[in-house]
Amino acid sequence: MAGALVVYESVVGDARRVAMAVAHGLCSRLEVDVACAREAPMLLPADVRLLVVGGPAHAFGMPRPATREGAVRDHAAVIPDVPFGLHEWLGAVRLPRGTQAAAFDTRTDLPVLLTTLDHAARTEETLLRRLGATLAAPAEHFLIADVAGPLVDGEEDRARRWGQALAELVAPHRIPVRG
Ligand SMILES: Cc1cc2nc3c(=O)[nH]c(=O)nc-3n(C[C@H](O)[C@H](O)[C@H](O)COP(=O)(O)O)c2cc1C
Repeated sequence: MAGALVVYESVVGDARRVAMAVAHGLCSRLEVDVACAREAPMLLPADVRLLVVGGPAHAFGMPRPATREGAVRDHAAVIPDVPFGLHEWLGAVRLPRGTQAAAFDTRTDLPVLLTTLDHAARTEETLLRRLGATLAAPAEHFLIADVAGPLVDGEEDRARRWGQALAELVAPHRIPVRG
């Protein structure tokens, strides 16, 4: 069975919850691993057909050391490795040829004028393309009620359905169960 890997960064836990829900959806057709960026492999196994990455929007972009420091200082966040997260992992990882990918972010429910400025998932997509991945689907955004969460009602379920739709795109034929 082909594989999928979901790599996330999460400060308060919401992007992690989305990553787990996406993985739940993906496992209908793919063998799935989930890892935070700090623990994700630097060389993807050859059987990984789909890579899904996601994390929170910080200062209208992906978290960087300065915004992680801000989260620790202003929101009492506990971040084990401030210098290293999803952006840094995407700058260092190597992907097998032909890897398909998709990106998500979590963000607060701000007015549309402001959310159009948010480029966290857009930057993830740029980094994925730079690594040679093909985007399997457009990025998805999941809403949280406030800076410290929780996810807005129904978002976890939407993440699971998004994962299922991604799995159907990259593995259109269900593997028959042998009996
Ligand atoms: C330093 C910092 C900057 C943030 N900047 C933004 C932002 O620009 N846009 C936004 O929608 N949310 C912003 N947020 C809220 C985060 O997106 C929210 O905390 C995150 O999505 C929750 O995911 P997590 O629990 O996985 O960290 C910010 C939060 C922090 C701590």
